Amino acid sequence: MTILAKHSAYRTAYEGLRKQGVDPLNVRFDKVLSPTEGILNGKRTILIGTHNYLGLTFDPDCIEKAVEATRSQGTGTTGSRVANGNYDGHLRLEQALADFYGRDHAMVFSTGYQANLGVLSTLVGRGDHLMLDADSHASIYDGSRLGHAEVIRFRHNNPDDLYKRLKRLEGMPGDRLIVVEGIYSMIGDTAPLKEIAAVKRETGAYLLVDEAHSLGVLGPTGRGLAEAAGVEDDVDFIVGTFSKSLGSVGGFCVSNSPDFDVMRIVCRPYMFTASLPPGIIASTLEALVKLQAEPKRRADLIRNAHRFYNGLVAMGFETGPEANPIVAVSMPDTETAVAFWKLLMESGLYLNLALPPATPTNTPLLRTSISAAHTVQQIDTALAIFADVGRKLGFMESDRRRAGGVV
Ligand SMILES: Cc1ncc(COP(=O)(O)O)c(C=O)c1O
Repeated sequence: MTILAKHSAYRTAYEGLRKQGVDPLNVRFDKVLSPTEGILNGKRTILIGTHNYLGLTFDPDCIEKAVEATRSQGTGTTGSRVANGNYDGHLRLEQALADFYGRDHAMVFSTGYQANLGVLSTLVGRGDHLMLDADSHASIYDGSRLGHAEVIRFRHNNPDDLYKRLKRLEGMPGDRLIVVEGIYSMIGDTAPLKEIAAVKRETGAYLLVDEAHSLGVLGPTGRGLAEAAGVEDDVDFIVGTFSKSLGSVGGFCVSNSPDFDVMRIVCRPYMFTASLPPGIIASTLEALVKLQAEPKRRADLIRNAHRFYNGLVAMGFETGPEANPIVAVSMPDTETAVAFWKLLMESGLYLNLALPPATPTNTPLLRTSISAAHTVQQIDTALAIFADVGRKLGFMESDRRRAGGVV
């Protein structure tokens, strides 16, 4: 018996996967060649699960800015901003984010995960009520645990359920904060934000939208779902990450809340961790410029996402309800999901294997995320590989019924 024996059920499940000849939690690239290609087990492989929505990770200007800043300011800040001070880049990035969103305030965190930990645990506390969509990302759940508000889950994407639960709080003291995501990370569906904003207005709650997967993807200027749905004025706090469309690492929150800056002296996941290195800040700043100056990237992304989604639907795979850059294919059981994922990888296609309990409705998923940098040919090759593996595993046409639910 060791101190970690309490996790033995997870170890047993993981070993079960490895018995199928794969180790999905320990994939190691020989080389990453571009936003859309790598060498995996000696084979040139299309990457179709990286969340690299705008394909900016190898952008020469972003790389150059990162190199310049690293050369001139060093590899790291070696401490938090409250202890070691602000670098000019931190302040410029916050100003650039505030300008982009047209908000008064922006705050940069070291990851998107920490942004949710920090913002959720600071906005609401003991005596307050935190209304979470049931399919919220782990960082949102963990943020809710770090604070002391009462956590109330409402049914995924169900404004009526949210309304009912808020009505039950009528007359009780405390703030209410509703938290939803722009595009949900598991099956790529969007929040019904207009309806949720209406509930927020009627019940006097605050509204926070995590645009991690929708920044650079949705809205006329890429600000996300709130912009696309035309309800930005109803959204009190927007959280996001640099680790997807902006191709680096880090997180942020923007808001018009007049006393927003008090967060800098009370928000522990901001105060008690090292700030982002100058190179990361510089490449993120450049990526934010590109996001705005090069709308073609967004158009290519949407074109690719629709092509891939429609291709999978036409073949009869069960996907999420909307053609967004996250396209998840449901699998009937874990064994089939692992076999499918392994064959895709052996055929030169790498994507995410998402297994219960990390998935909504306990369905194993083959989770893809499309990039603006994918060529149409790569999308078509990915579809052809899906068709081929689907055929091998009896998913196609006459075999569909065998797969139970994959119709
Ligand atoms: C909805 C959501 N919020 C926050 C995060 C955390 O982002 P980061 O990778 O910057 O920690 C993720 C990451 O996948 C996410 O999907």
